[in-house]
Amino acid sequence: MKEDRTEWWAEAYEQMQKLGYDYHYIDFASAKKEIEFIERTLDLKVGDKVLDLGCGNGRHSILLAERGYQVTGVDYSKSLLEMAQVEAEKRGLSLELRCQDMLTLDDDSLYNGVIILDGSFGIFTDSENEDIIRRGAKALKPGGKLLLQSYNPYYMAFNQGRDAEVDGDNTFIRETSFDVKRGAVVDNIIAIDNITGKYQRINTRYYRAYTIPELRGISNKYGLRNLKVYGHDDDFYPKLELPFDVQKDMVMYLLLEKLSR
Ligand SMILES: C[S@@+](CC[C@H](N)C(=O)[O-])C[C@H]1O[C@@H](n2cnc3c(N)ncnc32)[C@H](O)[C@@H]1O
Repeated sequence: MKEDRTEWWAEAYEQMQKLGYDYHYIDFASAKKEIEFIERTLDLKVGDKVLDLGCGNGRHSILLAERGYQVTGVDYSKSLLEMAQVEAEKRGLSLELRCQDMLTLDDDSLYNGVIILDGSFGIFTDSENEDIIRRGAKALKPGGKLLLQSYNPYYMAFNQGRDAEVDGDNTFIRETSFDVKRGAVVDNIIAIDNITGKYQRINTRYYRAYTIPELRGISNKYGLRNLKVYGHDDDFYPKLELPFDVQKDMVMYLLLEKLSR
């Protein structure tokens, strides 16, 4: 693992927590509303093996384990995995939580389903993003399915946003823009101390926003075929009955199937 790709995401997350930012984008309550969609699209049966790449605090991994699947969550952040472990123990669940750079994943034909959700994809260079798909494909059993969430470049190019939220002593400003040359969403979070006015940049993240033909091209190279592309409702929850709408959807969910050799 390259030194410059240390735990930047986890560090930013910890910093936001310290400052009191209510990072509700990665809470269990919202994951709960996505679980049925994940189970149904991956076509899971009780006892099936599922890999959650970039599992973070384990919100999807734990809920899937609770539903009777054998789950492996991979993340390189020790602190987020510790949070996952505490939550799993609290719920009396056992799952494999592995501290590993997903760019070194070498699992071969082990899983019925792989998920890469919510900011765990697109955060690397183009060749590394491709490598994640290659490794995810390799990890699947033939016929297994991969659910990949990725930003919709067309939507993001025309819907740049800024919102502010007061949490505790700080106002957090989140700005999202689109870098056309990189083809990437730029996500910038800053904190302003409400009393002193002190300004602090939390982090700037770049998420490569691929088009569907680009993602299909990469996936096909590694023996995956695209079954369907889903969108989401107004609260950003994916639904089986909602096909991807290029004008309305901020993100898309590509469902990919590993072809038999
Ligand atoms: C935005 S979070 C999403 C977490 C989770 N998928 C969810 O929906 O809550 C992105 C996660 O990817 C992890 N991550 C980033 N780069 C990674 C890498 N090279 N190997 C493993 N995990 C990585 C981060 O630590 C973080 O937990």
